[in-house]
Parts: sequence; C-alpha cells; structure tokens
Amino acid sequence: MAIDYIAKNEERFLEELKELLRIPSVSTDTEHKKDVHACADWLVAHFKKIGMPTVELHQTPGHPIIYAESLGAPGKPTYLIYGHYDVQPPDPLELWDTPPFEPTVRDGKLFARGATDDKGQMFAHVKALEAHLANGGLPVNVKVVIEGEEEVGSVNLDNWVEANSERLKCDAVFISDSSMYAKGLPAIMYSLRGLAYFEIEITGPSHDLHSGLYGGAVPNPINELGKIIAALQNPDGTVAVPGFYDRVRALEQVERDGFAALPFKESEFMAETGVKGVQGEEGYTTLERTWARPTLDFNGIIGGFTGEGAKTVLPSKARAKFSCRLVPDQEPGEIQEMVAAHIRSIASPNVKVDVHFHHGGRPVITERDHPAVLAAMRALKKSWNTDPVFIRGGGSIPVVATFSDVLKVPSVLIGLGLNDDRLHSPNEKFDLENFYAGIRTLTYLWDELA
Ligand code: BES
Ligand code: MN
Ligand code: MN
Repeated sequence: MAIDYIAKNEERFLEELKELLRIPSVSTDTEHKKDVHACADWLVAHFKKIGMPTVELHQTPGHPIIYAESLGAPGKPTYLIYGHYDVQPPDPLELWDTPPFEPTVRDGKLFARGATDDKGQMFAHVKALEAHLANGGLPVNVKVVIEGEEEVGSVNLDNWVEANSERLKCDAVFISDSSMYAKGLPAIMYSLRGLAYFEIEITGPSHDLHSGLYGGAVPNPINELGKIIAALQNPDGTVAVPGFYDRVRALEQVERDGFAALPFKESEFMAETGVKGVQGEEGYTTLERTWARPTLDFNGIIGGFTGEGAKTVLPSKARAKFSCRLVPDQEPGEIQEMVAAHIRSIASPNVKVDVHFHHGGRPVITERDHPAVLAAMRALKKSWNTDPVFIRGGGSIPVVATFSDVLKVPSVLIGLGLNDDRLHSPNEKFDLENFYAGIRTLTYLWDELA
C-alpha cells in the first residue's frame, strides 16, 4: 500500500531531499543562475524517475518552470500542485551553525536553506506522488507546477499561467508552502496577505558637505527620511496613509472567535521573536495583527557615514526599503500610488524624493467549505490524529491570486512547516516528523479526493 511504502523508504527520501538542498538555487542572485537551472534539471530528472508520465521544463525570461502531469484516471477529478524550488539568499552566513547548503540533521530536524521554504514541503508532495505511482498509480489526475521565482515575486509565472490556462484546468490547487498552527496541530490556511514593496531615495545637497560649514542651513536627507518614516505611522499603530484602509475587509466574528480559541501564548511569541513586548494596531490581538491586518514596515536603511569612528558629514542621499503587507481586498497598485503620493505630500519641498516600486502580490482569502478543503482536513486528521484548525497567514504567495482569477479555482494551503522554522533566516530547518507526517497526509489526500 502507498502508505506503508513511506515508512519503508523514509531514509532514502531524506537522502534525496538533502541532495536537492545542496543545490544553491538562490533566485535573486545572478551569480547563482547556473545553480537555479541545475536545480530545475534535478527536479525534471526526479519527476521522470518516480514515473510521472509527462515531465517538461519550460523556459521563461527568468528561471525555468517545471511542469509534470499524470492524467491516467479518466472520469476522476484533476488537481494541481504548486511549489517553488528557489530559495532566499543564505546570508548572514556567519550566523549559521552548519553551512546553509550542507544539509545536516540535528535533534530530528534538517537544517539547510530551503529546508522548509519550500524544497522540503514541495518534496513531500513529490514523495506522496511517488508513493501512489509505485503502488498501483494515482487515483486522481494530477498536474504539477514548480517554479523558480517565488522568492522574487513570481514575475514570469502569471504570464505563463495565463498562456497555459487550458492545460492547467483543474478542480483545485494544493500548496504546501506555509505552516501548521503549531507542532502537532495541523491547519488549513485560508488566507494570505499580499505585498507592495517600495524603495525611496531622498536627495538633499548635490554632494556630501562638511557638517560644520553647512549644518543647520540645508536639508539633511537622513533627517528628512526619519521624519517621513515617523509620519507614516499613527500613535495607535495604524498606517497614516489616507485611503489605506478603504478596501480592508473586516474580520468576521466567527474568525475572531476561532482565532481566540487557538492555543496562543504571548510569552511564547515573545520568546520566539526575542522582543521585550508586543505592539501593533490597537484593538487587535497578535494573531489578528499578523494574519488579517495590513502593515507598513521598513526593511532597510542606507545612507551617510557608517564606517569606523566619527565623520562630520551631511550626506547627499539617503535611501530606504519598505513594504506593506496587504489584506483582502486591498490592491497593490492602488496602495503603491497612495503611499507614494502621501510621501511626496509630507516630504520637505527642499529635497528630491524618488519612490520606486518593486514586486508585489495580491492578498487572497478562500472558501473554507470547498470539497477540496474538506478532503484536505480529513487527510490531515488521518495523519496527525487530531482535528485541523483554520488559520490565516501573514506571508504572501503571489500566484495564489492568479490561480483564483485565471483558473477560477481555490488554492488549499496545507502547511507542513512550523512558525519557528526560521524561513528566510539563518538556521532554517524542517522538522523530520513533519516531513514524514506531511508525506503521509498528502498520500491520504489523493485517496480522499478520489
Ligand atoms: N512560503 C513563503 C510564504 C509564507 C510563509 C506564507 C509562511 C505563509 C506562511 C514564501 O516563500 C515567501 O516568502 N513569500 C514572500 C513573498 C514574495 C513576493 C517575496 C513573502 O511573504 O515575503
Ligand atoms: Mn515559500
Ligand atoms: Mn519564502
């Protein structure tokens, strides 16, 4: 049986995942372009090895997309699996206990960049397909899309999905690229936040100036940037951009009640993040703030003298990167315009302000009573012996909105990671118990759907 096959092959599955994790497929870094392509080739070969009848590599203007399908269950429904093989840059390297691309097991956990986001979770899907293919075949029709540009905003995937919409037709999409609620407590994530990403450059004097000769009489771009940053938030924790909340969909009472019933300990949240206290928008709990409310956060500041010692200088320029997490039904394009217009209106007229937009993604909220969701819940329960809970997620997966618009189907997010997996951080890990229970869940899933 497919399910027994997993226990017999656990060790091999782990070795294969380690092989995949050794390929440094960092999508944002052009130096790693070869590795990204090597990773795609590895996956193509692997899909062939497990017996997927159709396996294709699709080139894009960016990184390639892997497409595979098994349509040998006529009359049965068709589902799409989505995942990504690209990873975030590993730096700062010195903070890793073992090197990011030398996967290492410690204490039942596999440490490596991409261990949970998303190679480990995506590979759990691959192994569940293998479990069926090696034991009589898949009971439903399955299509698989694995992209290499998720961490850079899925810039070429939307066009590809639109161009291939007929071929991608399906009854629902399944994605494992998020997290469970907590260890031992599985969840269906029915909403993701969106993203609008900005870069701002403030120019004051045309060149750096002696702060003794000119200080006090010319606009200092760092001081002006600081004023702008401060003016973007209100004291009550809301974002001070006019119109920002116009399209925000209010939380339903059932959602608030559901979140309030989850086992949440502020002390654990504080320990996990290392903060002295939590803060955010007034009137909302921590879970509501991270899952269902929009934000504006600065991600980095560059400017002026940062070398050793003291240099009395007035810099010519200051720059910052910041981003908004968006919730249904905010539109990234509209938010970009609102935020940029507001910044221009509050900035000193004596500096030049350039606002640049990076990639974004739209927020999504999906049905909780779709048959595919209910099947996923039964599969989770079988694997974890406990009822899954409904949660929302604070992160973004840009293509989910595209699947909903173009394919007109919901995406069911079956997260196998944990919140403390340190995705995007040093010492990213994947709990091996989650890996194996995840493979079992996804193996049960196809039977539940048949
Ligand atoms: N897998 C994450 C998104 C995620 C993580 C969703 C945990 C829910 C729970 C994904 O790889 C990611 O990091 N997305 C980026 C967005 C992208 C446009 C760069 C993000 O959320 O910052
Ligand atoms: Mn991911
Ligand atoms: Mn990620």
